[in-house]
Amino acid sequence: MANVYVTRVLPGDALERLRGAHEVTVWDGALPPEPAVLRELAAESEGLLCLLTDRIDGALLDSAPRLRAIANYAVGTDNIDLELTRARGITVGVTPDVLTEATADLAFALLLAAARGLPQAAADARAGAWRTWEPARWLGAEVDGATLGIVGFGRIGRAVARRGSGFRMKVISTADTPLDQLLAQSDFVSVHVPLTSRTHRLIDAAALGRMRPHAILVNTARGGVVDQEALVGALRSGAIAAAAIDVTDPEPPPPGDPLYDTPNLLIVPHIGSATRAARERMTELAVENLLAGLAGRPMPHPAG
Ligand code: DGY
Repeated sequence: MANVYVTRVLPGDALERLRGAHEVTVWDGALPPEPAVLRELAAESEGLLCLLTDRIDGALLDSAPRLRAIANYAVGTDNIDLELTRARGITVGVTPDVLTEATADLAFALLLAAARGLPQAAADARAGAWRTWEPARWLGAEVDGATLGIVGFGRIGRAVARRGSGFRMKVISTADTPLDQLLAQSDFVSVHVPLTSRTHRLIDAAALGRMRPHAILVNTARGGVVDQEALVGALRSGAIAAAAIDVTDPEPPPPGDPLYDTPNLLIVPHIGSATRAARERMTELAVENLLAGLAGRPMPHPAG
């Protein structure tokens, strides 16, 4: 029996399987434990089931010397210093595949919502601004036949491409088109790269400047991939028409952040994988990873 720390209450009942095999403690706060608190709580742990809101860095690893297995409740690993875990022989697992379709659905929902100006139209309807059927009001962008540029053609990027084809869009991606060219040709750009040192602020002022003035940017990857200050500038100056983002840096943006009053910007609170089925499957995969890692077996879904 190993000591396992779980940093949040998770959907589904897979944690019961973990409890059957190990001594499990679950942080039951609504907000993540502060780093110093987590360092104390995980000090004796051999297994850790953590979230993308937990920073797994040198300080955490130093304070938990018995740690052997980490299961991240996410497919992304930018919250974990993988070089350090590798150097210390700690195995790390992730939750791929089970959230692909849910995240692609959200990316496409954001694309459609931004294209048709749904947030403004819905707010207007509630505010009594819907006086009659108006031929020249609430006009959006046509999706049918438009060019969809996909930045990052992994599992989720490909799932978004399938949706785009279903809507008869012309789909291009960074797998077949250089980024600069893709940005210049696309009516919609959807971002699906992991956050690494190479993709940090990949969509910066210059990249936004290459986009078409009527183009719409969708980001369901990581906030750090887009230069937010540049995005605010591009939306305010009309360099691009709109953006819809599920991710920001930091999350959430602090009160008073310019993102909150930028025009034509739709923000949702990092809900790409938030279907009940996907989140329950994520719990199952994280538990499978931890059970294997603690038993000294290869994790079924190791971090890349
Ligand atoms: C991930 O898995 O990396 C998502 O951002 C959360 O589901």
